[in-house]
Amino acid sequence: MKISFSSKQKNENGTLIVFGFEKKKLTKTAQKFDAASKGALSRAIEGSRYTGKFGQKLELLAPAHCELSRIVLIGLGKPSAMSTLKAEKIGGKIITAFNAAGAETIDIAIDPPRGLGADVFAAHLAFGAKLKSYRFDKYRTTETEEKKPTLTGLNIICSKSNQAEKKLALLDHIAEGIIMARDLVTEPGNVIYPESYAEYIKELSQYGLEIEVLGEDAMEELGMGALLGVGQGSASESQLVIMRWNGAKKADQAPITFIGKGVTFDTGGISLKPGAGMEDMKFDMGGSATVVGLMRALAGRKAPVNAIGLVGLVENMPSSTAQRPGDVVTSMSGQTIEVINTDAEGRLVLADVLWYAKEKYKPCAMIDLATLTGAMIIALGHEHAGVFSNDDDLSHNLVTAGQKTGEGIWPMPLGSAYDKLIDSQIADMKNVGGREAGSITAAQFLQRYVGDVPWAHIDIAGTAWRKKADDITPAGATGYGIRLLNQLVVDHYEADE
Ligand code: BES
Ligand code: MN
Ligand code: ZN
Repeated sequence: MKISFSSKQKNENGTLIVFGFEKKKLTKTAQKFDAASKGALSRAIEGSRYTGKFGQKLELLAPAHCELSRIVLIGLGKPSAMSTLKAEKIGGKIITAFNAAGAETIDIAIDPPRGLGADVFAAHLAFGAKLKSYRFDKYRTTETEEKKPTLTGLNIICSKSNQAEKKLALLDHIAEGIIMARDLVTEPGNVIYPESYAEYIKELSQYGLEIEVLGEDAMEELGMGALLGVGQGSASESQLVIMRWNGAKKADQAPITFIGKGVTFDTGGISLKPGAGMEDMKFDMGGSATVVGLMRALAGRKAPVNAIGLVGLVENMPSSTAQRPGDVVTSMSGQTIEVINTDAEGRLVLADVLWYAKEKYKPCAMIDLATLTGAMIIALGHEHAGVFSNDDDLSHNLVTAGQKTGEGIWPMPLGSAYDKLIDSQIADMKNVGGREAGSITAAQFLQRYVGDVPWAHIDIAGTAWRKKADDITPAGATGYGIRLLNQLVVDHYEADE
């Protein structure tokens, strides 16, 4: 979809969107069209339930005395409560409503809402619209025209159109990262498997990222027995891919590292999952997709930060070479693990990647993302990811970044009593702790591989994929975490002392 900004209306016979506020107040442009249509807008308001509440919509078809086919009035609620997040939601709602109505191009007249500049409002509205119009249709070959979305262009009319364009250009890097992550997660397991995924990531060098790929031999050399054990039943070679962005003015500034679980398909291995719904497990590389999308966004906007993304790419398959329940593996840290359940594989992958990140890069912080436990969905549903951390400031900063960006994240506990649950009879630890507190024991497992580095683990099992659409996310892959972590970087890791 083409989004443009201009100081005047373009498609004069089309749809014009104007805004109103609570208590039936109208913006200047809305008032102008009310006058031009000899009061048609105010009469329509009186004859409807529209009051100007956030998200309300009132549509006027072919209003007399002007050349438009329709005027749509959208309520923004309280002018003082306007926010970038709400602007994004309005953008998303516009996409949903006008695709349903069959509109092709629309003009949107932005009057500066109090407290938020017209350019900021316009740019974030466009950002929300772009995110909501995401569609993965590359494998549809027989879809009829009537089923395809109709909207092809938005023309946003606002006074500061140049500034709005610049602001959107910045947000666009984030949108592109999110779209990339959604694509990766939606791609099936026969297309995205460790080797093809690594090839895909290599292409990101075009944005200025340094890419390094370690195959099984290199990982063997490093002693990554935990990660390698997970991939040993697969015909595809496991990969560790490292994406490096050196954007800080001080080249030697300790990097922030983002670590992603990239299980390209999780059958459960020999501890095989039940068949029903197993197809969903193509999204078990969601954590890695967020890291890839985030690194693309940081590089795209040339963020003044040193950041490293590390993704462990493996496929968890049952086969005659697969690891067995009861096997003992030795991780790169030297700690041994009794693999009670081969379906608790994500933590095995992350254990080696976390340890490697800590040893190799001496990072200022490590943040891992993983679709790690079904129990996370039971605890928090699809509204919040859970965050587990050894550092209260980091955890708090993540929650704040989540509130700003609308990507919910909620603190979960850690503690020695939970840690005990993963002690093993014959090795240093076992990979499962029983049914109770399943998300916490998984996090305790990871904590054994992070030392004293400030670390946060974000379990995105419930937020990486959603069956239902929301205001700015279609159903399916969400790209969760990119806006959140980009905000965290902006707020806390870009200072250049
Ligand atoms: N990838 C799954 C977790 C998952 C399940 C994410 C459903 C999203 C939706 C993970 O590898 C897994 O299988 N975890 C097990 C752990 C158990 C064996 C201790 C789980 O949650 O059931
Ligand atoms: Mn599993
Ligand atoms: Zn998994």
